[in-house]
Amino acid sequence: MEKVRSFGHDLDVNATDHELVKAQTHVWNHLFSFINSMSLKCAIQLGIPDIIHSHGKPMTLSQLIASLPIHQSKTTPNSQVYRLMRILVNSGFFALQEVVVDCETDLLEEGYVLTNSSKLLLRDNPLSVTPFFLAMLDPIMTKPWHSISTWLQSDDPTPFAATHGMEFWDYNEYDPRLGGMFNDAMASDARLVMSVVIDKCKSVFEGLESLVDLAGGTGTVAKAIADAFPHVECTVLDLPHVIANLKGSENLKFVGGDMFEKIPPADAIFMKWIMHDWNDEDCVKLLERCKEAITSNGNKKGNKVIIVDMVVEDQKKADDHDNKPYETQLFFDMLIMVLLPGRERQEKEWAKLFSDAGFSNYKITPILGVRSLIEVFP
Ligand SMILES: C[S@@+](CC[C@H](N)C(=O)[O-])C[C@H]1O[C@@H](n2cnc3c(N)ncnc32)[C@H](O)[C@@H]1O
Repeated sequence: MEKVRSFGHDLDVNATDHELVKAQTHVWNHLFSFINSMSLKCAIQLGIPDIIHSHGKPMTLSQLIASLPIHQSKTTPNSQVYRLMRILVNSGFFALQEVVVDCETDLLEEGYVLTNSSKLLLRDNPLSVTPFFLAMLDPIMTKPWHSISTWLQSDDPTPFAATHGMEFWDYNEYDPRLGGMFNDAMASDARLVMSVVIDKCKSVFEGLESLVDLAGGTGTVAKAIADAFPHVECTVLDLPHVIANLKGSENLKFVGGDMFEKIPPADAIFMKWIMHDWNDEDCVKLLERCKEAITSNGNKKGNKVIIVDMVVEDQKKADDHDNKPYETQLFFDMLIMVLLPGRERQEKEWAKLFSDAGFSNYKITPILGVRSLIEVFP
């Protein structure tokens, strides 16, 4: 194996030239990963998925440029918009298809079409992930990523708190713009998750007469359950400023409060994306409160805690196949580390929390992509 020439040092690097430049490309791809998300953010902000969708057939570059709210100086063909679309075609958010642009001559040109991923970014798609996407890339949310290493050298609870001077939930109250964006992001995710849960896991709700959606945000999860199962009395508990002014319905009510203080009794407690926000000690405390709430309700058979969260694959299993879902789980784990004192957990870590809080059994149903539905029984 050829030895690479180093700059003055005899580095013990046995890479061939090919391996050397491959490693450089690997570093560059990591360095510039943010360009994928920022390019997609630009396309969403310009409404490109919606414009292509409304066009109804493959949309040529000149048609797209003519429809975009951009400055005259940026409308040159094969320039800025072409370059933006090229990277988004490469990352699978748009595809190219031939389309007849002149019926008399049957002249064909390539036009942009949506892919399954960009269909999920349409603003009118009830399952749109756009609110989540834009909230996560808001500058308030991305700024703490620049200071993870300094945070590690401090006793600040999170990089978010180190950057903004207060913890995440307090910031959401202090800045209603971010708080509103965050609540909308959660609501959009809840619509997608609940469409799958109610379609695929009806049996999970069998026998229940009451349910508390704990830290249920603005109530999207509870509304979906209340509509699908009208005999279930649903309660959303969240911080008072989150549920202020929200109106319930016949079988849905909103309660403001601190879930660590008191949880109303119910047959089931539902927690979507809650446990991953908290450290182990707080999770055990919360699960103990949940246990009290479901057992003080007549101790019926079938009472349980229902959790929607990630169960992180173990490294070895993840190596065996496509590692993208594992990478997504690791992204979320880092996201949580930057924003909150929680973490994403492997099955053995979940099992320990459940047993430490006095639960006897649990069942994991991995039906939500990188997330699972977990039922926990007293
Ligand atoms: C990640 S969000 C999840 C919202 C909702 N469950 C969902 O997935 O759509 C976490 C929620 O916890 C709420 N929260 C934070 N601390 C709380 C507390 N001490 N008591 C009640 N709710 C709390 C926040 O206001 C927020 O709505």
